[in-house]
Amino acid sequence: MNNMDNSESSKINGLIVGGSGLIGGYLLHYFKTKTPEIDVRAPNSKKLSLRQLDDIVGYFKRNKPDFVINCAITTIKSDALLSYEVNYLGSINLARAALALDIPYIHISSAALLPSGENLTEEDHLPLDSSMSNYAKSKLMTEMTLREMHAKHGLRYTLMRLGVVYGAHDHKIQGINRLLFNVVDRAMPFMLTKRKGVLHSYSNASKVPYFIHHVLKNTKEFSGQHYHFVDPVPVDLAQLILTIKTYMNLKTPREIYIPYPVAKTGNNFMSGVIKLFNRIGYKANMPQEMIFLENFYKTQTLSCKKLQNSSFVDPNPQATVFTELPALIEYYTTRWEHLNLFSSFNRDDFSSAHTSRKPIDPSEQKAKMFLNTPRELLEVMQKEGISPMKEIL
Ligand SMILES: NC(=O)c1ccc[n+]([C@@H]2O[C@H](COP(=O)([O-])OP(=O)(O)OC[C@H]3O[C@@H](n4cnc5c(N)ncnc54)[C@H](OP(=O)(O)O)[C@@H]3O)[C@@H](O)[C@H]2O)c1
Repeated sequence: MNNMDNSESSKINGLIVGGSGLIGGYLLHYFKTKTPEIDVRAPNSKKLSLRQLDDIVGYFKRNKPDFVINCAITTIKSDALLSYEVNYLGSINLARAALALDIPYIHISSAALLPSGENLTEEDHLPLDSSMSNYAKSKLMTEMTLREMHAKHGLRYTLMRLGVVYGAHDHKIQGINRLLFNVVDRAMPFMLTKRKGVLHSYSNASKVPYFIHHVLKNTKEFSGQHYHFVDPVPVDLAQLILTIKTYMNLKTPREIYIPYPVAKTGNNFMSGVIKLFNRIGYKANMPQEMIFLENFYKTQTLSCKKLQNSSFVDPNPQATVFTELPALIEYYTTRWEHLNLFSSFNRDDFSSAHTSRKPIDPSEQKAKMFLNTPRELLEVMQKEGISPMKEIL
């Protein structure tokens, strides 16, 4: 079944590439729980690598999906080869496969290919040249080639550009999560932005699947179209940082606003120091998004007029990064604590009512035994925890 506008009794099969990632995870969960008529598969990159044409050909020959969603990317700091092969060539090969089967292809793009400015439209982009980052270049080239494939060959595709993405279950510490991490771990003593008026557009990861499902049900309206998928009201960066600080009851960052030239010099100095350390055998990296330091000082807002004028209805118009912040803070601080990533964060330091400790659950108690009295834990497990798992019989 190639067109989801038709209602047929047989199940629709979709392919999600990048299903283990932040956006892919939301999509997978949505299609597994909310759409009984749709079956999705999300092979990982070991099974279907965008770098391997044979993987793509083999998958499409075997499975003949009814639609493809591509939310795969290589890490943003990847070199030219990886960025080209995964983000660009891989995306185009997926689109070529979708074209051959005449099925919808949904592509996720990024505001990284946009200049700074306000109310940028879907037609705006940076000029394509070698000075762009590998990530932005690969995203822009994909957008341009998809347009060409639509015009020349009738590719049925829809593209959504995301701004700063917020949502739980991100394995990376990047973008807003890096900001949250640095504030909570007290790694930002001063404000790395302007006092007021540095605005950005944010995208709610949990709403992406609703849009894609809607697109798949209305392919005629959305085919060949690009959309800015962002919350309508842009967010002031300083206000966001100060909200996190207040919520966590922190003393830093102090409200001293570091001018961009000073921040850039500091950034360059740190990369020099890190290079030096790496040369003498200590492995260290600058946070990937420090390459986007400039963005902390420049407004970039995306117009979502086109989205608002479409037939898509926002499933939760009240949700913004501010309404989601408490849940995100709780989720990520707990996760990063468990992963031992913090160096200065100590939950007990925070008297804030929001972060009060929940009662210790049994597995936390076991974790304490694992830490302090492993022999005792071994005995308990061997006495109580190794009988056959009867509940599966
Ligand atoms: N997150 C953001 O802040 C943000 C902002 C704007 C736009 N976007 C866009 O949103 C989309 C999704 O981003 P994300 O943050 O969800 O990404 P992510 O969390 O980094 O996940 C990347 C995914 O790509 C897969 N992948 C990597 N290399 C691959 C390869 N060679 N072949 C096949 N799959 C491969 C990974 O699969 P394995 O784990 O199996 O390797 C993983 O599932 C991207 O197009 C990105 O440009 C994201």
